[in-house]
Amino acid sequence: MLIKKPADIWPSEITPQSVWEDRRRLLKMATAASLMWAGRGLAGSRVPERLPEVEGGRKIEGVAPGPFNAKDPLTPYENIVTYNNFIELGPDKRAPMYNADRLKTRPWSVKVDGECEAPGSLDIEDVFKLFPPQERIYRFRCVETWAMVVPWVGFPLGDFLKRFKPTSKAKYVAFETLYDPNMLPGQRKMPYFFWPYTEGLRIDEAMHPLTMLVYGVYGRELPNQCGAPLRLVVPWKYGFKSIKSIVHIRFTEQRPKPSWNRLQPDEYGFYANVNPEVDHPRWSQKYERMLGSGLFTRKRPTRMFNGYEKQVASLYKGMDLRKNY
Ligand code: MTE
Repeated sequence: MLIKKPADIWPSEITPQSVWEDRRRLLKMATAASLMWAGRGLAGSRVPERLPEVEGGRKIEGVAPGPFNAKDPLTPYENIVTYNNFIELGPDKRAPMYNADRLKTRPWSVKVDGECEAPGSLDIEDVFKLFPPQERIYRFRCVETWAMVVPWVGFPLGDFLKRFKPTSKAKYVAFETLYDPNMLPGQRKMPYFFWPYTEGLRIDEAMHPLTMLVYGVYGRELPNQCGAPLRLVVPWKYGFKSIKSIVHIRFTEQRPKPSWNRLQPDEYGFYANVNPEVDHPRWSQKYERMLGSGLFTRKRPTRMFNGYEKQVASLYKGMDLRKNY
């Protein structure tokens, strides 16, 4: 039997406390889940003989170089698009790539409402036209300790949000992924999760110039497994905050309750700022390993705020970052 090191266990594989306390429900769920995944194999595996093409989607025209570029060597494209967390498309790192074609990303629109003067909905093609694409090379750090350096293509989330004129009551911003179990089978296979996948930011975090809405990588449109057609990227926070395939953004007065935070608040905080001094309850956060750095994957020290301390530390002045994990 394969015994996983804590660092290899990712959030969706970890049984939430609220669930293991209810043993009967867990047993039922485990049986159903294993039958479903086993049945999937019997019904004809979706795993192709060879790796899918990884050249990427349509080339994005007119990409301008953006600010805040990391100096670290880039993670190869192949690693970025073949090693993913997208539980709606499957429970391990490769499944999202193999199941990517289930998700249809056109037509697609993003609705914005809540505490704002100009709520509305934008077709994704209009989003692309309205906000000029920038390339920004950002470090990305998953809570599971793997990390990468990615040339994203997108635009500042703040530019997008201002268009909808948030009111003074808009203290937070809540984000939602598409809910469609036919296209995103994980939503049926993992009934204990709080679907749709939701995330949230404080309004000043959302408006921070580092925070991006992303629709491309390496100059091409995002492959579905990376969160097409539009995802969030918040480079100083653990990767689970960077919600994929967004359909709904809401300004709120109350702090939203993101899915992971609701499920396991002691393991997946609302803030989830990268911090080498605050360990995950089941593993250390002191080191990270870079994807694609070879067989003996190189470990390097985790950096406070993932290396963006200069840009974002002031957002948390006076806050005890150990308590406000
Ligand atoms: N968004 C949705 N909708 N579903 C997910 O499972 N996984 C999160 C985040 N966004 C996830 C999601 C996690 S845990 C991480 S680490 C990043 O996406 C991974 O992004 P990547 O696959 O592009 O590396």
